[in-house]
Amino acid sequence: MGEGQREGKKPIVELDGVGKTYFRDKEPVVVLDNISLDIEEGSYEALMGPSGSGKSTLLNLIAGLDRPSRGSARVAGQELSGMSDSALATFRSRTMGFIFQAYNLMPVLTAVENVELPLLLTKLSRGERKKRAQTALRVVGLEERMNHYPRQLSGGQEQRVAIARAIVNDPRIIVADEPTGDLDRKSADEILTLLEKLNKEFNKTILMVTHDPQAAERATVIHRLDKGNLS
Ligand SMILES: Nc1ncnc2c1ncn2[C@@H]1O[C@H](COP(=O)(O)OP(=O)(O)OP(=O)(O)O)[C@@H](O)[C@H]1O
Ligand SMILES: [Mg+2]
Repeated sequence: MGEGQREGKKPIVELDGVGKTYFRDKEPVVVLDNISLDIEEGSYEALMGPSGSGKSTLLNLIAGLDRPSRGSARVAGQELSGMSDSALATFRSRTMGFIFQAYNLMPVLTAVENVELPLLLTKLSRGERKKRAQTALRVVGLEERMNHYPRQLSGGQEQRVAIARAIVNDPRIIVADEPTGDLDRKSADEILTLLEKLNKEFNKTILMVTHDPQAAERATVIHRLDKGNLS
């Protein structure tokens, strides 16, 4: 078996003894203690736990928004712990799609312009960028709303635009931090169905933080975090 094939079998996320300590008034606060976690490519996993247990901190480490204080975090074949800020930024733009509870759309831009934003840093032509943004909006079922502004959309539709923005760079991994936290049951279920489709049809690896047991049940694996450790 060649090196490439063996590489292909490795988990896309491999955390080994990861810890995160913040300092508050010079006092260390251990937020993540000793986390070891493997996530296979193509899986859909949920992360639950009480408020303040470190879920967002862990998600942000995996996504390359932050670095561990100790331990090893290999994501998509790259070790993130010693990476420079600019290397992390490149890693994120190539590998990660982000979905948050607050949709974070730019109010002065239309849906398609919002979705196009992550592509502005690439070398793609204007026409190609627009084409990809339209394709992403089609995937989330909002192509006919491409020229609408966020204020003209419902919360569920805004989150779908945010999901289109998260997939426009064709990321291998999607991290979602309470993606249904601000939505009613029906809109939440639509978002969860869309995430399932991205996982099953587009083979995206998804890691989702959620407080909602119904949301977590849609995932194939549920991890529980408590006081900085996985149980
Ligand atoms: N930048 C920071 N500096 C200092 N402390 C931080 C920082 N970020 C998070 N913390 C602390 O780390 C702990 C875990 O925070 P985190 O946001 O990861 O929790 P969470 O599980 O996502 O909670 P929630 O469910 O409320 O979103 C909290 O006690 C928080 O105050
Ligand atoms: Mg959080």
